Amino acid sequence: MLSKVLNKMIEEFDSVIIQTEGLTKIYEGKVKANLDINLKVYKGEIFGIVGPNGAGKTTLIRQLTGELMPTSGKIRINGIDVIENPDEIKKIAGVCPQEASLFNYLTVWEHLYYFARLRGLRKEEAKKRVEEVINNLNLMSYKNRLVGMLSGGLKRKVFVALSILGNPFILFLDEPTTGLDPQSRREVWDIIRNMRNEHGTTIILTTHYMEEAEQLCDKVAIIKDGRIVKQGSLEKLRGELKYDLKIRVPSQTFRKISYKLSHINHKLIRHRNHVDILLDKKNASAAGLVEDILMSLQKDVVLTQPSLEDIYLEVIGYEENTE
Ligand SMILES: Nc1ncnc2c1ncn2[C@@H]1O[C@H](COP(=O)(O)OP(=O)(O)OP(=O)(O)O)[C@@H](O)[C@H]1O
Ligand SMILES: [Mg+2]
Repeated sequence: MLSKVLNKMIEEFDSVIIQTEGLTKIYEGKVKANLDINLKVYKGEIFGIVGPNGAGKTTLIRQLTGELMPTSGKIRINGIDVIENPDEIKKIAGVCPQEASLFNYLTVWEHLYYFARLRGLRKEEAKKRVEEVINNLNLMSYKNRLVGMLSGGLKRKVFVALSILGNPFILFLDEPTTGLDPQSRREVWDIIRNMRNEHGTTIILTTHYMEEAEQLCDKVAIIKDGRIVKQGSLEKLRGELKYDLKIRVPSQTFRKISYKLSHINHKLIRHRNHVDILLDKKNASAAGLVEDILMSLQKDVVLTQPSLEDIYLEVIGYEENTE
């Protein structure tokens, strides 16, 4: 019995790759950018960090990668104390920063090749890996183009390419897909999934796209004003929400049924042509609401679970005017 418990503890100890305790960053003694951040990320997880502009996502990533010294707290990554040994973490991590400079007078191919060599790949190995990454990111037609001449989205792809070149043990991606077109975004998603599935890479990414976090991440942390206010799998976050049903109705028909909502706890999110009604299933059923809506409007109505965006808006505090 005892050995079982011990084994479980050892297993957990082995598989926790990132752990922070009380991580706090106060810039210049006044801007509280991260407050008491406690994270546990397991081997092979894709862990998403979401939150409003200025919430502290980039600050968190920069501390995890050893680039920025915390004001207080602890960071342990794969057994490395990052605060004591910030250079050690750099050897095992790939980083795609939110903002940084590229060498504008190198071509895409040269940039990637030199970085692969700096990452320790031998000549032939580096050439092969660069070709592979260029292909995966659909950058073939740009490989001889000067980096300085690329569009914003293409530069973002080069940052992503640089971060994965060395097949890192752990990957930090700060808004990897911001500014990318839908096809490119999916190419980056495929790369992220492949890194995890083929190499077991542990991946931390930040994003403003809730669909992206929902599609990619095993777990998500929502950060607000420097604090993590929720974290866990989508199922866990959904379970903590006070609504468990979403009914999507066209705006026109919503007007006809809105009176039925007056005695039921609900939340509305209006879109251009439809309205999402978030409800607690039990209350809605008790009031016969779901049945009524389905009976009268069956063709136009969609019933789903709340999405990560719904959870996010609830946690961040977005309130629709319910008239
Ligand atoms: N170098 C710095 N010096 C002082 N304050 C900073 C610095 N960098 C960030 N901040 C402040 O810290 C807070 C958190 O910023 P951070 O860049 O971590 O937010 P973020 O969540 O990444 O935002 P975004 O979604 O816009 O990228 C903000 O109030 C920001 O103004
Ligand atoms: Mg940021």
